[in-house]
Amino acid sequence: IDGTQKNIVWHACPITKPDRQELIKQKGFVIWITGLSGSALYNLGKLSYILDGDNVRHGLNSDLSFKAEDRAENVRRVGEVAKLFADAMNNILISPYRKERAACRALLPEGDFIEVFMDVPLHVCEARDPKGLYKRARAGEIEGFTGIDDPYEPPLNCEIVIQNNKDKGFSSSSSSSSLPEMADIVV
Ligand code: PPS
Repeated sequence: IDGTQKNIVWHACPITKPDRQELIKQKGFVIWITGLSGSALYNLGKLSYILDGDNVRHGLNSDLSFKAEDRAENVRRVGEVAKLFADAMNNILISPYRKERAACRALLPEGDFIEVFMDVPLHVCEARDPKGLYKRARAGEIEGFTGIDDPYEPPLNCEIVIQNNKDKGFSSSSSSSSLPEMADIVV
């Protein structure tokens, strides 16, 4: 159902994204980090905000489970919030599941959605197990855990691949030269 059907009319704010960009001399865009649980580590060098899956699920998405349809709704909401944050000129980093990423990318202008794949093998994430969730999933205490009994689909086309495993290698695709000035990513 779109806004027209619900008698909701889009309100265009007189203060625009370029106005805000000029004010704080920063471009607003989204860095979408995807990978298995326990794959991401990062440092920030710009005004930015991390829409962390765990944290978002405490409030905005506290009604959602890890069933496939709820994961999809989780990613959809996070994508919409990221779009608003990017409009407010924050650089966003989000670390959710792969599904519906294409739809989230489509919400933003070309070049403003930078997909980062944390390319870390399951056994490395499982050895790290910072929250003890893999152990619990293996013990059958958590159902539908990503990488164990729920699938993880790595991106087919993304801007950056970070191999954040033991050799700390870093690689990026050819499109990375067109990245906007962005937060430092430390692996
Ligand atoms: S999703 O798939 O996008 O809806 O997941 P997301 O909201 O990003 O949440 C991922 C974090 O939730 C914790 N957690 C689980 N992850 C995967 N599968 C199951 N079943 C699950 N249950 C809890 C886990 O700590 C994830 O944290 P990260 O930051 O990914 O390590």
